[in-house]
Amino acid sequence: MSQVRAGILGTGHSYPEGILTNADLEKIVETSDDWITSRTGIKQRRKAGPGEYTSQFAVRAAREALERAGIEAADLDLILCATVTPDQILPSTACLIQAQLGANKAAAMDIVAACSGFTYGLSLADVMIRGGQSKYVLVIGAEILTRYVDYTDRATCVLFGDGAGAAIVGPVEGDRGILATRIRSDGRYEEQLYAPGGGTKGGFTAETIARGDHFFKMKGNEVFKVAVRSMSEISRDVLCQAGLKTEDVDLFIPHQANQRITDAVANMLSVDQSKIYSNIAMHGNTSSASIPIGLDECVEAGRVKSGDVILLASFGGGFTWGGVVMRW
Ligand code: ACO
Repeated sequence: MSQVRAGILGTGHSYPEGILTNADLEKIVETSDDWITSRTGIKQRRKAGPGEYTSQFAVRAAREALERAGIEAADLDLILCATVTPDQILPSTACLIQAQLGANKAAAMDIVAACSGFTYGLSLADVMIRGGQSKYVLVIGAEILTRYVDYTDRATCVLFGDGAGAAIVGPVEGDRGILATRIRSDGRYEEQLYAPGGGTKGGFTAETIARGDHFFKMKGNEVFKVAVRSMSEISRDVLCQAGLKTEDVDLFIPHQANQRITDAVANMLSVDQSKIYSNIAMHGNTSSASIPIGLDECVEAGRVKSGDVILLASFGGGFTWGGVVMRW
């Protein structure tokens, strides 16, 4: 009996109207457009307004993905929302999305894997569909990172932006679909990239808030080195698992953390520049949302053709990292 293969049936994305440019940041911290552009490739990022919250963008992205997949929300069996910036602690953002979509028969849960959340979600969706547990899975990466950014810390505040991307994963026929996935983590690196406040360990009091314990803290330089190594390794691993080589890749969408990280990974893998997608200039680092936003932008731009081999690779806080190879 041939096993069902899972593949992406539709994608969508959404982001706030608000734009924070490098020139805006020059007025807030001691930085310059020149420094940000040369060190990161970022020119602007989206920033949610005061009344906006994560699930709103997730739902907009999900509706677009459902429509393109030709699937009703009521048909969804599982909703996985990757986020480190949930609407609230309880219930999960995935449950709040479920209610807004009216996806009443679905199970719903959040994935907390920072920038690797979407690759983690695709990996789980693949297993659930191939195992016959689910037919249609909605995988979302959605973040409002600007709420957790310390706008007095120039080393982090220039990096992050807001947005959401979504994909409907379901059974596919022929040789298309997800060919291989691989996810990894190493919790020994906690303090390289973390937010110590807001949980049961760090607490959430007037004191912790005043200290800014809930803001992201990052040793950027250390993260950079491990990110390049891990994304390159997992890309090679997942391609090998799929029986493919880097030359077979038609489109590479890495997590958009820093243009220099993307360039270094592409260089280590020897992937031609023309095959790499980058939107870091327009969005900055949107964590779990960066890959699905990138994927949907490629779909909208007609950059993915039937039969193309697409490589996704992520790296984020935890540390977590992941790779997915699929045939479109
Ligand atoms: N403007 C001007 N100067 C700055 C800024 C800024 N915005 N930020 C830092 N600097 C200064 C530093 O103070 C330092 O000055 P000094 O030499 O006088 O001490 C100098 O620039 C160099 O600082 P570095 O930290 O060494 O700069 P680097 O080239 O490493 O770039 C960056 C920093 C952009 C953060 C980079 O390290 C990076 O992108 N790291 C990886 C980020 C990442 O991948 N995160 C993972 C995903 S995020 C997630 O999981 C949520």
